[in-house]
Amino acid sequence: MILEILLFLLTTLVGYFIYSYTQMNQFFKRRGVKHFPGVPFFGNMYDTTFLKKHFLDEIQVIHDAFPDEKYVGFMEFTMPVLLIRDPELIKSITVKDFDHFTDHREFFSEEADPLFAGSLLLMKGERWREMRTTLSPAFTASKMKLMLPLIVENSDNIIQYLHDHQSEIIEVDDLMRRYTNDVIASAGFGLKINSLEDRDNEFFKIGNNVLNFNLKQRVLFIVSTLFPNLTKKLGVRLFPEKTYNFFKNIVTSTMEYRTRENVERPDMIQLLMEAKGDWSPDEITGQVFIFFAAGFDTTASVLVMAIHELAINPEVQERLYQECRQLKEDKGLTFDSLSELKYLDSVLNETLRKWSPAIFMDRTCVKTYELPPPREGGQSYTLKPGDVIYNMVNTIHMDPNHYPDPHKFDPERFSEENKHKIKPCTFSPFGGGPRLCIGMRFAMMELKVLIFQIMLNFTIVKTEKTMDPIKLKPHSFNIKALNGTWVKFQKRE
Ligand code: HEM
Repeated sequence: MILEILLFLLTTLVGYFIYSYTQMNQFFKRRGVKHFPGVPFFGNMYDTTFLKKHFLDEIQVIHDAFPDEKYVGFMEFTMPVLLIRDPELIKSITVKDFDHFTDHREFFSEEADPLFAGSLLLMKGERWREMRTTLSPAFTASKMKLMLPLIVENSDNIIQYLHDHQSEIIEVDDLMRRYTNDVIASAGFGLKINSLEDRDNEFFKIGNNVLNFNLKQRVLFIVSTLFPNLTKKLGVRLFPEKTYNFFKNIVTSTMEYRTRENVERPDMIQLLMEAKGDWSPDEITGQVFIFFAAGFDTTASVLVMAIHELAINPEVQERLYQECRQLKEDKGLTFDSLSELKYLDSVLNETLRKWSPAIFMDRTCVKTYELPPPREGGQSYTLKPGDVIYNMVNTIHMDPNHYPDPHKFDPERFSEENKHKIKPCTFSPFGGGPRLCIGMRFAMMELKVLIFQIMLNFTIVKTEKTMDPIKLKPHSFNIKALNGTWVKFQKRE
């Protein structure tokens, strides 16, 4: 009897696998879209799920395999996604026909996960538009100017730390996360934290865990992709109650304190307070959380990669040093003088091209949309509400048709003379259209200040532990070198 039950279960399982395999592979075939065959249940995500490959390496292969296609098919587990690889089409989706693609992809319902789902990043339609209008004034040039001293204060802490550890080979990933953590704590919430001294502070611990998904979160993430309605019904949360309460407490206590003591400070929470009347505490907490989640890891990983590229490209570093030194002598560092560091701008843009933390810009179709055929003579493709597409970012950045010799680190691509050659939508590290990263200016300022300070004080030196060329640590989204990024900071005389 037991043998029969086992045989029945095995046959059902095999039957299900064959059925799902055929369904999955027929999906794009029937629609005339090129794709790689997927593995039952995992689709094209098998290697990423089991951390055999970085997700980026997975989609780079697909991008490169079909050079003549405007878009290709990708199975994210059992969910079909179109990877859009044609810049013209990306422009239509993100800008011209934005009203068909106003939203990002939904993972969890707002009731179940107010922190993440209720943030600007995942808000939808009209509510998103209202929140975006509320928050935009926090990122204008005049507000950035006020925030600059807060950033400089934190970069000074890093410089001091490096002076104290000159002879050591340093793992910069951890160091940069401490910097971006302290900057966002200060410019976002008015909290003065020095994570280099207070190494186990709660803010850093929580922040580090936000995007470093543990096994439970990784499983939840997969289940939410496979069965979105089930996770919604069950009220599943991606982030633990503790994280939610942590951010909520910061928001409420800061607001109470500032109202009681009549304190004003040039930070993001202040702006949310001024707009408070219309938004619930949960909604405000969601925004505070996303400033942190979207700004902490992305900015740190760009800094790490910039430091790595400077270490292995000493001639670029020397030219950058000369520019920084000149500015220091002529004017010193101010909000206005920062924009005169043109070469620094090019160096950071080139870093963002090679190592964009975003990987893709996801969009959900909200109004039926007809895509042109993927190639001449092909059939058009109708996207229906709820369908998800990914506009490619990194794979386009590394496409030799758009950037010759793409692996070469060449800031000249972004120089005044050359930047006009960059085609629209082939450089999108901050996304594009109305959903462009709201923190872009803030991030660029944060990046520039620290690299400027490092250049003036130290030469970044490649060591025997520096990985060159970099191999990415397998992950779904974090851009990090396998075994870390190690360099030495040698004091300039
Ligand atoms: C180098 C650092 C950063 C990179 C590469 C980056 C990249 C991005 C990208 C690609 C998007 C999606 C855009 C789209 O879909 O078109 C985005 C959205 C967003 N980013 Fe950033 N970001 C960075 C830093 C920051 C910082 C510092 C903050 C906050 C202070 C921030 C806050 C946000 C928010 C709130 C959104 C959602 C915007 C919306 O949907 O309206 N980001 N970011």
